[in-house]
Amino acid sequence: MHVIVGITGGIAAYKATAVIRQFTEAGHSVKVIPTQNALRFIGAATLEALSHNSVDPDLYTDVESVKHVELGKQADLVVVAPASASFIAKYAAGIADDLLGNTLLVTKAPVVIAPAMHTEMWKHEATVENISKLQRRGVHVLQPASGRLTGADSGVGRLPEPNQIVEFALSRFAKQDLFGKRFLITAGGTRDQIDPVRFIGNNSSGKQGVAIALEAQRRGAKVTLIAANVESLPDQFEQIFRVSSTSEFENAVDVELSKTDCLIMAAAVSDFRVLETGLQKIKRSEVGNDLNLRLVANPDVLAGAVTRISRESLGVLTVGFAAETAGNAGNLEDLARAKLSSKGCDVIVANDVSGGRVFDSDQNDALIITSSGRAIKAEGTKVQVAAELIDVLVDLLNK
Ligand code: CTP
Repeated sequence: MHVIVGITGGIAAYKATAVIRQFTEAGHSVKVIPTQNALRFIGAATLEALSHNSVDPDLYTDVESVKHVELGKQADLVVVAPASASFIAKYAAGIADDLLGNTLLVTKAPVVIAPAMHTEMWKHEATVENISKLQRRGVHVLQPASGRLTGADSGVGRLPEPNQIVEFALSRFAKQDLFGKRFLITAGGTRDQIDPVRFIGNNSSGKQGVAIALEAQRRGAKVTLIAANVESLPDQFEQIFRVSSTSEFENAVDVELSKTDCLIMAAAVSDFRVLETGLQKIKRSEVGNDLNLRLVANPDVLAGAVTRISRESLGVLTVGFAAETAGNAGNLEDLARAKLSSKGCDVIVANDVSGGRVFDSDQNDALIITSSGRAIKAEGTKVQVAAELIDVLVDLLNK
C-alpha cells in the first residue's frame, strides 16, 4: 500500500517516527508530509531516513509535477498522527494552505487521524464540532488516550502508542479473510529452571509469533496468544496466556486446542529440562569445577497436539516451525520436509538460524512447506513473512 503519514505540530510529533517505521516494516511504501510546525519538533532528515523517501512539505516546490494531486491520487491510506487542534479545524473547514491540506482534499483514500492535545482543547466545543464534522464525512478518528500530557498535568489528549495507531489503521482496511476463524498462536521460548537463578532456555524473541498473531487478528481471526517469556507484548490481543516453563506451555496449549481452527507453533520449546529443579541455588563454592546435570526430555508439544487432533477429530490446521542450522537452501528444504513428516503437521515454516541469524532480528528468510508439497519462500521483515504465511493458511482453511 502507498501510505501517507501526515504529521502536524505538537510535542507528540516524535512518536510519528515509530508509526512510519511500523508501516515500512509491514512492507508498505510511506510518504511523509509534515506541516511546517511539525518540523519545529522533528527534523526532515529523520523522516526521510525512516520512510526511505524524500520529505518536502512546501507546496510551491516541484510545482510542475502538481505534487498534491499526484500524492493524493496515489495514496491507499492517509494517517495523520499527531493531529493538532488547529489541523483538525482547518481540515474540517476544507482549508488547503499547505501540502498536507491540499493532499487531503484531493485524496479518495481512507483517512485516519490521531488527535493529540491538552484535555481542555480536546473538550472545547470547537474541537468537538470539528471532530464530529470529520466523522460525518467518513474520516476515522482514533480517540486520544488518557495519561500524562506535555506539562505536569494528566488527562485525555495523549497520542495513543504508535502500534495502536498502526493497528487501528491497518485493521480497518485489511481484507477480512479470516473472519470467524479462531487461531491459537504460540510465541517466544520456554524456560525450564535448573535452580532459582538459572534456566535452560533459548534465543527466541517471540517477534515472529507476535507478528503472525497481529496479522491474523487484523484479518478478522479471533486470536489466542500463548507467550512464553516474550519481553515486549502489544496490548491489543483479546486473550493472552503468559507462560514460562515447558509444562505451563504444554498445559496452555492443551486447554485451548479444542477451541481453535488453526494452531501455529512459532514458540521455541526446550527439548530438555533437569530431572529435579534445585530449590536452592547451586553454589560453585560447593560443587567445585565439575557439575553434572541429569537432563530428561520434555514432551513434544506439537507432535502431542497433532496426535490428539487426529484422535478426537478436532479438525485443527497445524503449523510447526523448524529452526535449523542448515547451511544452504537445499539442506534447509530437506530438513523442513523431514520435520513436517516427523511432526505430522500440515505446514512447516523453516528458518536457517546458522550463525545466530533470525533470532531477535526484525528480518526473516523462511521456507513454508505444506503437506501437499508446496514450497513457498517468504522473506523480508517478520511482518511481511507473517502476511505470506497467513495467505497460505487462508487457502488451506478454505479448502
Ligand atoms: N516443539 C514442541 N515441543 C518440543 C520441541 C519443539 O512442540 N519439545 C515444536 C516447536 O514449537 C516447533 C517445532 O516443534 O514448532 C520444531 O521445533 P524445533 O526446535 O525446530 O525442533 P525439535 O522438535 O526440537 O527437533 P530437533 O531438535 O531434532 O530439530
